[in-house]
Amino acid sequence: MRQIAITKYGGADVLNIEDVPDISPEEDDDVIVEVKSAGVNFADTLMRVGFYPEAPPVPFVPGYECSGVVREVGSGVKKVKSGDRVFCLTKFGSYATLSRAKENKTFMLPENFSFQKGAAIPINYLTAWMALNECARIRENEHILIHSCAGGVGLAAVQIAKDKKCVLYGTVGSDEKCSYIRSVGVEHPINYRKQDFVDEIKKINAEGVDVVLDSVGFEYLKKDREILKQGGKVITYGLSGIKIGEAKNIISKWLKMRKNYLINPISLIFKNHGFIGLNLLPMWDKNEFFMDAMEKILEKIKKGVFDPVISKEFSFEDVAKAHGFIEGRKNIGKVILNIE
Ligand SMILES: NC(=O)c1ccc[n+]([C@@H]2O[C@H](COP(=O)([O-])OP(=O)(O)OC[C@H]3O[C@@H](n4cnc5c(N)ncnc54)[C@H](OP(=O)(O)O)[C@@H]3O)[C@@H](O)[C@H]2O)c1
Repeated sequence: MRQIAITKYGGADVLNIEDVPDISPEEDDDVIVEVKSAGVNFADTLMRVGFYPEAPPVPFVPGYECSGVVREVGSGVKKVKSGDRVFCLTKFGSYATLSRAKENKTFMLPENFSFQKGAAIPINYLTAWMALNECARIRENEHILIHSCAGGVGLAAVQIAKDKKCVLYGTVGSDEKCSYIRSVGVEHPINYRKQDFVDEIKKINAEGVDVVLDSVGFEYLKKDREILKQGGKVITYGLSGIKIGEAKNIISKWLKMRKNYLINPISLIFKNHGFIGLNLLPMWDKNEFFMDAMEKILEKIKKGVFDPVISKEFSFEDVAKAHGFIEGRKNIGKVILNIE
C-alpha cells in the first residue's frame, strides 16, 4: 500500500508519499477499506505544522475520513462486508490507499453517491450538527452567525440551519465567497476584510443573534458577545485565527493574550449568555452521539436536504497542493484527495 506521512513538522513539502506493507484487521471490529477519496481538513494543515496537540507524534499518517470499498473485515464485523461501498471516520490514517476503520464508524455510501461526496460527509456534517443541534439546540427562525461560512464545516452548518428555517449571517474573506454563501441561502453575507462584522450585524439587527458558530477564536470570541442576544450562545470549536509563525504554539498565544479573552461570569449571568466548547475527538468513543447524529444526517442526505459541497479534488501525488489550497483560503466547501 501507499500512504502519505507527516515525517516532520513544516511546510506542505514534508508530506511524504511512501510504500509500506498492506494493513489487515487487528481487532474483531476492524474494517479495511480500499480508499478512493479522503477528506482534507483545515486541522490536517495545523497538525502538519505541529500546532495540533491531539495528533500522534511524527511520523504519522493524517486523515480523519475517507470513502472506498471494503477489502477485509475483522471476525466480529456484521454491518459491512467485503465489496461494500462505504465511507468512514478514521482517527488518522485515511491519507492512504488502505485505511483501517472501526465497524461503528463505517457507513454504507448512499445509493448514487460519489466517493468524493462520501468522503466529504463525516467531519463537516458531524461538527456542524453537534454545534447546532447538540450544543446550541437551535430552534426554528433563530438568527445564527457562522464564521468561516464558506468552508467545509461552514457550508454544512448553512444546510443544517436552513433546514430549521433560521436566518443566517456569515463572515467570509472575499466577495466571491460572499456571493456564493448568498446563493445558498445566507441572508446576510459579510466580507470581514471590508466590513466589521459587529458593526454590520448591529446595523441589520440591533437585537443581535441567538447563536454564533466560531471556529476562528481569539479576538473573535470577544466580538461575538457584542452581537449576542439575551440568552444567546457562542459555540467555539476552532482556533483558525492563529497566525502560523507568529506564536510558537496555540497555548503561548493564549497565554500572551489571555486577559483579552477572559469571560466575566457576572456578565454571563446578567445576559444569560453561554459559551460552549466543541471538539469531536474526545467524543470519539462515546459512540451513541456519533451514531445518533450520523443516522439523522444520512436521512437528510438521502432525501436531498443536505448535499456536500466539493470545492476541489486533488490527486494523491498533489497532496501538497491540496494543503496549499486550504492554507491559501481558496476553498469554498470541501477539499478532496482522490487516492485511486
Ligand atoms: N472542534 C472540532 O471538533 C472541529 C471539527 C472540524 C473542524 N473544526 C474547525 O473548524 C474550522 C473549519 O474547518 P474546515 O476544515 O471546514 O476548514 P475550512 O473552513 O474549509 O477552511 C478554513 C477557512 O477558515 C478561514 N480562516 C480564518 N482564519 C484563518 C487563518 N488564520 N488561516 C487560514 N484560514 C482561516 C478561511 O476562510 P475565510 O477566507 O472566509 O476567512 C478558510 O477558508 C477550523 O478551525 C477547524 O479546525 C473543528
